[in-house]
Amino acid sequence: ARIYVPCDAAAVALGADKVAKAFADAFAARGLDVQIVRNGSRGMFWLEPLVEVVTPFGRRVGYGPVKPRDVDALIDGGLLEGRGGPLYLDNVEKIPFFAKQERFTFKRVGLTDPVSLDDYLAHGGYKGLERAIAIGPSETVEQVFESGLRGRGGAGFPTGIKWRTVAACAPGKKYIVCNADEGDSGTFADRMIMEGDPFQLIEGMTIAGVAVGADKGYVYCRSEYPHAVAAMNKAVAAARKAGYLGSRIAGSEYDFDMEIRVGAGAYVCGEETSLLESLEGRRGLVRAKPPLPAHKGLFGKPTVINNVISLASVPFIMAEGAKAYADVGFGRSRGTMPIQLAGNVKHGGLYEIAFGVTLGELVEEVGGGTFTGRPVRAVQVGGPLGAYFPRELFDTPFDYEAFAKKDGLIGHGGIVIFDDSVDMAKQARFAMEFCSVESCGKCTPCRIGSTRGVEVMDKIIAGVEREKNLTILEDLSNTMKFGSLCALGGFTPYPVMSALTHFPEDFGRGSVPMA
Ligand code: NAI
Ligand code: SF4
Repeated sequence: ARIYVPCDAAAVALGADKVAKAFADAFAARGLDVQIVRNGSRGMFWLEPLVEVVTPFGRRVGYGPVKPRDVDALIDGGLLEGRGGPLYLDNVEKIPFFAKQERFTFKRVGLTDPVSLDDYLAHGGYKGLERAIAIGPSETVEQVFESGLRGRGGAGFPTGIKWRTVAACAPGKKYIVCNADEGDSGTFADRMIMEGDPFQLIEGMTIAGVAVGADKGYVYCRSEYPHAVAAMNKAVAAARKAGYLGSRIAGSEYDFDMEIRVGAGAYVCGEETSLLESLEGRRGLVRAKPPLPAHKGLFGKPTVINNVISLASVPFIMAEGAKAYADVGFGRSRGTMPIQLAGNVKHGGLYEIAFGVTLGELVEEVGGGTFTGRPVRAVQVGGPLGAYFPRELFDTPFDYEAFAKKDGLIGHGGIVIFDDSVDMAKQARFAMEFCSVESCGKCTPCRIGSTRGVEVMDKIIAGVEREKNLTILEDLSNTMKFGSLCALGGFTPYPVMSALTHFPEDFGRGSVPMA
């Protein structure tokens, strides 16, 4: 018999390790020989810890949320035979939240044992690399270009063009760097891939290496993700042992190896050039661009730097073909996006779906509204630098261009939901404060501007010379937006100005939205 208890950090935070131990103890006490597999999460966090069982007839059924004190009753009630009970969920893939998804990148997450290479191979793993080796580097780059894949870290730059740029650089030392410094509030897609299907990221980076002629890769992972670091290290060791990393990978003529590096807790190190500085052993100061990392990146060499999800999308594209990926989507946003629902939401979790779904569908139908049961008032999309959208904008389709048209961004796909008790002036202050704390200090609009921004917001909140200070705030936001060196200072005005535009009443202005 076999049961699955997630090892995903969200499930662990909700008690999954204790549940796994309770099962191990209970099986031992009963003399039962049951294998406990620690899988990734299915992404339905309100059901975690979600335990799944493979029944004697080969069906896989779930129970959740399971507490350690439920374990004895579950076993005695026939859990191993897949029998019903108060926590019974039947086939979890039929739960509407799961069933409506299009899982391209997350297809194995929650299903397999994340650190078992055999399980990865049994579920279609390394088919993408096999094809990349068969068709060769330039055809591989073209496949990625044709898939329409755009950078999933937030900027949405075409991945194929980035790879072409690095491939076109003269042969010599080149690097693949994976940006796993997932710092946006309300985001966890990178973490779930690294914890739930690490081989897929390794395969994606290996394909990138073959495609552009790089033989070395680094994953730069934030220090707050110890479970992801452990899973990645285990998977890298297993891949190396089996010949999928190292010299002449998978019996081919290509060499590729990689390492996991851990950051030290700076949000700005998710910005690609400060990430490279940090990776080189220096303080995470942003570099001016140009030169682009594609031309002069890590240690001054041509470097592909992509987000976890961008790289993890590549094995599917290579295995299934560019067309299979490009066939779904909306406008210029092709393929799927792993959307992360967080904050005050009833059904929080990971929802992978083709672009084009509206914000309202995501918040109200998929997320089920707020956890508190109060009306939704605002949602912040795209992390702490993303705009706040009111309900009036809920018809916006999830698409890079559609969000940009409404002065917002989809960023890394995180949606944080707020109910009607939120004070948007305080949220605007928080954006400025966040920027002042996380600023790398290299440029004045961000370093000084954010601190002045906090002071101005304090005056606005206290009702001191409101109109005059609101004008200063708008002026300051423009300076930061157009004068900052990187997105941290440059995008902080998005949450600030969207809060003021859509929720003027919280700033002591009339309820008529500003132009
Ligand atoms: P960007 O627009 O400057 O660059 C996008 C990417 O394209 C970079 O990798 C750049 O080097 C590359 N690029 C641009 N032109 C190129 C060319 N001609 N050839 C090859 N490569 C080229 O945007 P940036 O500053 O890298 O990212 C900003 C985004 O980061 C924001 O949209 C924000 O949503 C997101 N973000 C994500 C976070 C997360 O936790 N995932 C945290 C903070 C921000
Ligand atoms: Fe550094 Fe801020 Fe300037 Fe970016 S905008 S370079 S984080 S000071």
